[in-house]
Amino acid sequence: MEKEKAKPVGFSRTTITELMIPSYANFGGKIHGGILLSLMDKVAFAAASKHSGAYCVTVSVDTVDFLQPVAVGDLVSLKASVNHVGNSSMVIGIKVIAEDVKSGSVKHTNTCYFTMVAKGDDDKPTQVPKLILESKTDVRRFVQAIFRKKLKKDHTEKMETMKKGWDKEEMSRLLENERCIIE
Ligand SMILES: CC(C)(COP(=O)(O)OP(=O)(O)OC[C@H]1O[C@@H](n2cnc3c(N)ncnc32)[C@H](O)[C@@H]1OP(=O)(O)O)[C@@H](O)C(=O)NCCC(=O)NCCS
Repeated sequence: MEKEKAKPVGFSRTTITELMIPSYANFGGKIHGGILLSLMDKVAFAAASKHSGAYCVTVSVDTVDFLQPVAVGDLVSLKASVNHVGNSSMVIGIKVIAEDVKSGSVKHTNTCYFTMVAKGDDDKPTQVPKLILESKTDVRRFVQAIFRKKLKKDHTEKMETMKKGWDKEEMSRLLENERCIIE
């Protein structure tokens, strides 16, 4: 039996908007990637804890690509929603946009996926409510999260196999067009 009543995606949809102040900048005058990562973690926590009604921890971050630089003075908005739920885990999709308020230009700087796990009072993973998918987009995102999980599992298994079997000839073949020298 489900521990909690199912909740729709919209129940936990969360947006955080923050002004990029000078102390967030790197030596090049653009915003540190770490500042954006910290904001992503916050918005992921907010969405996951709203859905689960529990304290949540970050267990995995999937593909953070910084596609465009963010400038001091930009207003950065992070839009998060629960894309998938497992038993205790939730995949939170986050879209980050940066807006130059003077020119009105809006840049999509990145999209990424955080896996959060809900914990109970005993500090152990605890079951989260089912997710009610109300739109085609909700269904597509849920299915895409399943594919992403499967790809990650396959990738991890492949990397483990590579670690076990180190074949010099095979490695030399794979690296023949790379900028390295095997001694
Ligand atoms: C997250 C954590 C509780 C998982 O503990 P665990 O003993 O592996 O528990 P389980 O095996 O039951 O896994 C719990 C869930 O996490 C998922 N999970 C575990 N490792 C994962 C990973 N690397 N990527 C994605 N999901 C993962 C499992 O699939 C499971 O999901 P489900 O319940 O929906 O099926 C534990 O690893 C932890 O406390 N990690 C530290 C978290 C933290 O401190 N984060 C802050 C980062 S600085």
